[in-house]
Amino acid sequence: MKKKTTAIVISQKNLAPGIFDMWLETDLAENAHAGQFVGVYTEDKSLLLPRPISICEVDHEKNAIRIVYRVAGRGTDEFSKYSAGEKVKLLGVLGNGYDIGKLLGKSVVLMGGGIGIPPMLELAKEINAHNEALTDGDKMKVSIVLGYRDSMTFLKEDFEKYGKVYIASEDGSVGTKGNVMNVMASEGSDGESADKTADNEDTIKADIICACGPMPMLRAIKVYAEEKQIPAYISLEERMACGVGACLGCVVKTKEVDHHSHVNNARICTDGPVFAAEDVDI
Ligand SMILES: Cc1cc2nc3c(=O)[nH]c(=O)nc-3n(C[C@H](O)[C@H](O)[C@H](O)COP(=O)(O)OP(=O)(O)OC[C@H]3O[C@@H](n4cnc5c(N)ncnc54)[C@H](O)[C@@H]3O)c2cc1C
Ligand code: FES
Repeated sequence: MKKKTTAIVISQKNLAPGIFDMWLETDLAENAHAGQFVGVYTEDKSLLLPRPISICEVDHEKNAIRIVYRVAGRGTDEFSKYSAGEKVKLLGVLGNGYDIGKLLGKSVVLMGGGIGIPPMLELAKEINAHNEALTDGDKMKVSIVLGYRDSMTFLKEDFEKYGKVYIASEDGSVGTKGNVMNVMASEGSDGESADKTADNEDTIKADIICACGPMPMLRAIKVYAEEKQIPAYISLEERMACGVGACLGCVVKTKEVDHHSHVNNARICTDGPVFAAEDVDI
């Protein structure tokens, strides 16, 4: 159930130029999952709408959520100045999130690009927690592919706790030059560098992809998944307004007709942000 609530800043730090990492104590943590997001209100009353920010991590024991965000404009700039003890109004928990039930027993590739990297961390963590309780046949194998602008590889060490991490950077300063798809072209199980004669642990096997990142990256993943005939679940972090399904400011074209509106549309804020790639026209 969505609600407006007041959170307390536990800590805030600068991870890379313009990228901030904030832990918030909030009762929203109880029901927060990977792929969902919160609306963060600003104190600046000229900015009416809450800013949507994904849940990067949940700590159920401490009743806390972590958000990692890039300063893009006035709202996120204000958030970056908050320090421990300050109060922040949140709307949450919003969106559908990833369905781990669909990943059981599969080789899962988690892909994050830029500011789409943070939500993949909670997904990696939840998969890891599920694996501990699952029998061998249902365990998931995780490969993590992260695309950065440059050598500022924020959250890389956090991801390394949960699987093998492959890096791409646009400027080629770390990992594969290019984006996450360049990593797949090189390190995927039928990629240029793969040893196709062996079941090589170093190559990335993809039965299923979960991804979040800029639209060109998600379009490329949709094409790749269609070619390989594998499912892909993509999180569309499009611009949003109300965040609760009321304004239609976030619609995406869909294959199926929506049973409420009777048109080929879905609202990213309530029906998503996570969709099966084959279901959306992006
Ligand atoms: C579901 C969802 C989850 C998100 N999760 C994160 C996250 O975890 N970390 C993070 O850093 N950002 C995330 N975003 C993007 C974030 O919401 C925007 O960057 C933020 O709202 C900008 O607010 P602002 O007031 O700082 O800037 P504004 O003044 O509102 O905008 C500044 C600039 O950013 C652009 N912008 C605004 N919103 C978006 C958007 N959604 N996508 C691309 N460009 C945008 C504007 O066009 C403008 O150029 C998410 C967005 C959505 C919809
Ligand atoms: S943002 Fe208003 S309907 Fe989605």
